[in-house]
Amino acid sequence: MTPIGLPLPDVVPVLRGPHVVLRPAVPADAGVVARLGVDPAIERLFGAGRGARRGLTSGEARAALARLSGPADTQGWVIEQAGRLVGLARLSAVEPGERHARFAVTMLAREHLGRGLGTETTRLVLTYAFAVLGLHRVTARVLSFNERALACLRACGFVEEGRERESVPFEGLWHDLVIMGVLDREFAGLAAARPECAGLAALARVVRDELATGAVSRAPSP
Ligand SMILES: CC(C)(COP(=O)(O)OP(=O)(O)OC[C@H]1O[C@@H](n2cnc3c(N)ncnc32)[C@H](O)[C@@H]1OP(=O)(O)O)[C@@H](O)C(=O)NCCC(=O)NCCS
Repeated sequence: MTPIGLPLPDVVPVLRGPHVVLRPAVPADAGVVARLGVDPAIERLFGAGRGARRGLTSGEARAALARLSGPADTQGWVIEQAGRLVGLARLSAVEPGERHARFAVTMLAREHLGRGLGTETTRLVLTYAFAVLGLHRVTARVLSFNERALACLRACGFVEEGRERESVPFEGLWHDLVIMGVLDREFAGLAAARPECAGLAALARVVRDELATGAVSRAPSP
């Protein structure tokens, strides 16, 4: 079955994995995101912040969710695990001509790190990007000290493509920004080889069918 192709569909499909469900944001998510707030242990991985853990105003939470659907070249999801919102993921700068896009993902609280949720989320989004949208390449940018994110991306087929050397000043040092990229055939090879990726082909079929038949439920924007 061929991908549905681009431009981006006007709905964001639900992506279901064994442990996480990625779904479009709804207005009620803003309260949860505001309560989860900013975790400095996560903020530092983006080279920012050094304060204590704090909540977000409802306006800040709504803005964070709005960035998920952002401009027309962007689609994003909230990540749910066991019915709880635990993170955010986004494909942005989707280019129909060159068929590439940028990927970003974050858990919202430190207790959700290192439990496999980021790797599963990344594989779900890449399945959508390649097998549903028909993208050719996806890139991500990560600070060089963010070992867990680099390991997560490598476990999903990304390789280092280059570095913006000493690009980000943080905590008194310059840090490289690592440009990671994965091609459609590389991800397909990885997905075919890894037993834990066995469900991804079926997911792609379900999502392609839903989008082709218009059976995807429309979630209200946040
Ligand atoms: C990056 C992120 C999404 C990864 O998700 P995660 O659920 O925490 O990571 P996972 O449990 O899936 O583990 C991913 C890899 O990191 C490894 N890992 C886990 N903890 C680690 C640590 N403290 N240091 C180095 N590697 C670590 C795991 O072993 C795994 O590698 P493997 O598959 O080769 O064994 C998550 O850590 C996060 O939200 N970080 C903050 C935001 C961020 O950095 N985003 C990246 C921008 S694209």
